[in-house]
This record gives sequence, structure tokens and C-alpha cells, in this order.
Amino acid sequence: MKGIILAGGTGSRLFPLTKVTNKHLLPVYNKPMIYYPLFAMKEAGITNIMIVSGIGHAGSFLELLGSGAQFGLKISYEVQEKAGGIAQALSLAEDFSNNEKIVVILGDNIFEDNLVEAVKDFRALPRGAKVLLKPVANPKSYGVAELEDGKITKIVEKPKDPQSDLAVVGCYMYDPQVFDVIKGLKPSGRNELEITDVNNFYLEQGTLKHEVLKGFWGDCGESFDSLMESGKLIQKSRLAHIDEALAIPADKVTESTDRPHKNLLDREEVDVFTKQK
Ligand code: G1P
Repeated sequence: MKGIILAGGTGSRLFPLTKVTNKHLLPVYNKPMIYYPLFAMKEAGITNIMIVSGIGHAGSFLELLGSGAQFGLKISYEVQEKAGGIAQALSLAEDFSNNEKIVVILGDNIFEDNLVEAVKDFRALPRGAKVLLKPVANPKSYGVAELEDGKITKIVEKPKDPQSDLAVVGCYMYDPQVFDVIKGLKPSGRNELEITDVNNFYLEQGTLKHEVLKGFWGDCGESFDSLMESGKLIQKSRLAHIDEALAIPADKVTESTDRPHKNLLDREEVDVFTKQK
């Protein structure tokens, strides 16, 4: 399985922090933002990764991450010439994916949970897609999943009147048909090819699986507050201790999600992202 990290876009919600640098290179506690999705992929056993970035900053990613060898990864790069949405950025990875299943992570998303079991489960499926959900306090800012009897019935992108608090977070798993699905998409109201439309395609096809995250999840790119809160949460979590080589701290390795919270932060301090704690 191959990994794709999407790190394009203009970062307009974080301007002027993003005036001269790419959002995904900004510091989040003690590491550049993009280290966290790279670590999540590596921990889940995905080491062949493509980074799709915007044209202005592609060189900075190369300077920071190189070939990936220093992290035990193989990193390739692709450039999104013009911001056109998450699904459009993903379409650029079609050749790279080479008809394999893929795991896609948005470069500004932070996952406290390890993704080991979720990826393992998807690996075993013959086809389809999988999304991860998390209850949030501000569902209007995200793609939101509506559920009935434990099954997703609908995903709505940034609903004005959310019918649930379950955000579809920025980690998606797809079979190779995803690239044909994207080719059939029409731009949304914000003139983007929406990843939510891709997920709704799989939903209608009856091949969309989901699971709900237990630990904190942060979309650092959403606002200044989410950027700051993510840093604070990381400071108190196992993610603060990933070393420069993105090695997994020996005492922090979790073999299965049966015990996903070995090193969790104090639940009382949570947060702008979750309302369940
Ligand atoms: C994107 C997706 C949205 C998802 C979110 C997660 O939103 O469109 O469905 O919930 O990422 O971070 P954007 O960051 O483009 O506003």
C-alpha cells in the first residue's frame, strides 16, 4: 500500500503565518507540521510516500525531508500547479499509486491514535474505501457524517445545519478506482473537487467503511486556535517524543488498538476539537 500526504493549498486561514512559507512547514510544538502525518504513516507500516505540495514551496519540502532516507522512508514529490481541492491534489498521485490501494493523509491533520489497526483492516478488504470519524465541537468546519444504526447514510461538506457532530477527518483509504471517481467529479460551490464527493461515491456504492477515533485529532490548518491547541495537546502526548528520525519511542509502541491510550494526555484538558471529554 502506498501513502500520499496532501500539503498544497494557500493556507489562507493562517495568513500571515503562511505568507512566505507553506502551512505544513509551520511549527506545531517541537516539529514541523508535516512530521506528524509522516510519522502516522510510518507507524502504520507505510513507507513509500508521495507528498503533493503547491508550486511555491515544493523546494522547502525537499530541503526538509530529502529522499526520506533519514526517516527510513522513500519520499517522492508532486506539484499542484493551482489549488483545486483535495480530490484534485490527490488525482496527481495516480501514476505513483500504480494501481495499489492508498492511504491519504492531509498534511495539517494530527492523530494521537496510531492508525495501525485501521490500515491493517483496510489492507485486508478486497475493495472500497474507509474514512475515520471524530466527534467535534464545531462540525460546521468539516465534512460531517450522518449515521443511522451505526452506518453512514450521508456525508455533508461544511453543513450549515449539521445533523451530527462526527467530522470526517483527514485520513482516507481508497482502492485504485478512486482515480476514476475523481475524473467524474464536478467542482463544488467553492470551485474545488471535494473529497467528500469521493467518499459519497463509495457510500452509494456500498463500499465505504468507517471507524471512530479515540484519541485527539486536530486540523491545524483550520484556525490559529486549532494550530495552538494542537501544539498544546502534542506537548502532553506521545507525539512530543517522536525523535528527529521519526523513530517510534520504544516504550511508546502500541501493538494493537486494544490499548491505544497508553500515553495519553490528561483528558480534563481537552479541548477545542472534541466535545466528548
Ligand atoms: C477538508 C475536507 C473536510 C474534512 C477536513 C479535515 O476540509 O474538505 O471534509 O473534514 O478537511 O481536516 P478543508 O480543510 O479543505 O476545509
